[in-house]
Amino acid sequence: MKDMMYMLFADFRTQIVFLHVISAVVWVGGMVAMKFAAHTSIMQVESPLHRLERISHALKRLFYIVTPFVIILIITAVIMAVGLGFRDAAVDANHNVIDENAMFIYNLVHLKEGIWMLMATNLAGMMWFRAKADKLLLKGDTVKAKANLARIGNLMVPVNIALGVGAIYLGVFLRNAY
Ligand code: HEM
Repeated sequence: MKDMMYMLFADFRTQIVFLHVISAVVWVGGMVAMKFAAHTSIMQVESPLHRLERISHALKRLFYIVTPFVIILIITAVIMAVGLGFRDAAVDANHNVIDENAMFIYNLVHLKEGIWMLMATNLAGMMWFRAKADKLLLKGDTVKAKANLARIGNLMVPVNIALGVGAIYLGVFLRNAY
C-alpha cells in the first residue's frame, strides 16, 4: 500500500497537488463567497421568510458543490502524506525519532489531518442544522429556523474559513519545509 502511494505520487505529483489545491480553493473560496457576497446580497430581501428560504437554498447548493472536493482533498492529502515520505524521514521501524526537524514536519502533517477532521465535522454539523432549518421553515417557524441558520452563518462558516486559511498556510509551509 505504502509503495503504491509512493509510486502514485511520483508518477502524478503535479496532478495530485493540483487536485489538493483546487479542492481547497473551492471549499474555502466557496465559504468566503457565501459569507461575504451571497449572504450580504440575500439580506436585502425584505420578507423574513423568503430571506431565510434563499439563505437555506444557497447553503444547500454550496454544500452540494463542496462535498466532492472535501473528499478529493482528503484522498490527495493521504497520498501526499505517505508519498512524500514524512514518516520514514522522521522515525525508524521501532518508532524512534531519527531526525528532530523531520519529526516537526511530520507533526505538522498530523496537524493538517486534525484540521481537516474539524472542518469536515463542522461541515456535517452545518448540513444537519440547515436541514433542520428547512423543516422549520416548512412549518412556518421562522424564529427557530433563523436561529439555526444564524448559527451556521455567524459561527460555523467563519470557524471553517479560519481553519481553512490555517490549513492553506500550513500547506505552503510544508511545501517549503523539505
Ligand atoms: C487532510 C489533511 C491534510 C494533509 C495531510 C495535507 C498535506 C499537505 C502537504 C504534504 C502539502 C505539501 C505538498 C507539496 O509539497 O507538494 C499540502 C499543500 C497544500 N495544502 Fe494540504 N493537507 C491536508 C489538508 C488540507 C486542507 C484542509 C486544506 C485547505 C482547506 C489544504 C490546503 C493546501 C494547499 C492550498 C496546499 C498548497 C500549498 C502550496 O502549493 O504551496 N490542505 N498539503
